[in-house]
Amino acid sequence: MLVAQPAGAVLPSEYSFNAHISSPTAVQVRPRSDRPIKHTFTTRPATINDAPAIASLGSRVFSTTFGFSIPPCDLKAYLDEAYSTDAVENDVRSASTQLIVACAGPDDRVIGFAQLTEFTSEPCIEDLECIIELQRLYVDPDFHGSGIGKTLTKEVEAIARGQGYRIMWLGVWEGNFKAQRVYEAMGFTRVGEHEFKMGRCIQTDWIMIKDL
Ligand SMILES: CC(C)(COP(=O)(O)OP(=O)(O)OC[C@H]1O[C@@H](n2cnc3c(N)ncnc32)[C@H](O)[C@@H]1OP(=O)(O)O)[C@@H](O)C(=O)NCCC(=O)NCCS
Repeated sequence: MLVAQPAGAVLPSEYSFNAHISSPTAVQVRPRSDRPIKHTFTTRPATINDAPAIASLGSRVFSTTFGFSIPPCDLKAYLDEAYSTDAVENDVRSASTQLIVACAGPDDRVIGFAQLTEFTSEPCIEDLECIIELQRLYVDPDFHGSGIGKTLTKEVEAIARGQGYRIMWLGVWEGNFKAQRVYEAMGFTRVGEHEFKMGRCIQTDWIMIKDL
């Protein structure tokens, strides 16, 4: 476990953080009796105009879900790299990436997104053929449990199938108990692990796969 550093302390050049049992509700499994309100929503492919909303939602959900597990400087380094508007614009423009957004409310605001990324792999799945990565799946916490994550995943699965891919893979943090359950409910199984680096912080992700 990472121990809180005093102000001004110098962190090592790299360090590991292991999941521990005192993680917050953002990563905990929901009790079966706690059924949330079902919200209505629509989905569509993301456009370049969605980049600021995706960047803002991605930063907020990532900070809420994982912020407790890394020091603020490493969280900021990762958010700048992955969820600046420029970074998301590059993802939307990239030929190897596809983003689907979920929208809701009178202003049809972006409340979720899924990102499909081609040509990525990990050592534990390098023997598998025709694989594609579900790289990101993020839903606004106010809308969790409405089937948005499942719908977005089904849509990217259909896109992947249409492109001839046969297996979808993803990495999920070993301490993200809630997302692990969600992925298991959608048919993914754990096949290995890899290291995920944010700033200087190294965490362990499960690698999960699903036949398409
Ligand atoms: C993981 C996440 C995308 C799920 O989105 P969601 O819209 O809340 O999920 P859904 O409502 O579509 O639920 C999908 C399935 O998981 C189950 N599920 C949802 N939340 C659950 C929870 N807290 N505990 C157990 N199961 C859960 C649902 O029952 C459903 O299965 P079912 O249809 O068989 O009942 C969302 O919680 C999220 O954005 N979390 C923060 C970011 C994150 O961790 N992303 C994954 C990074 S790898």
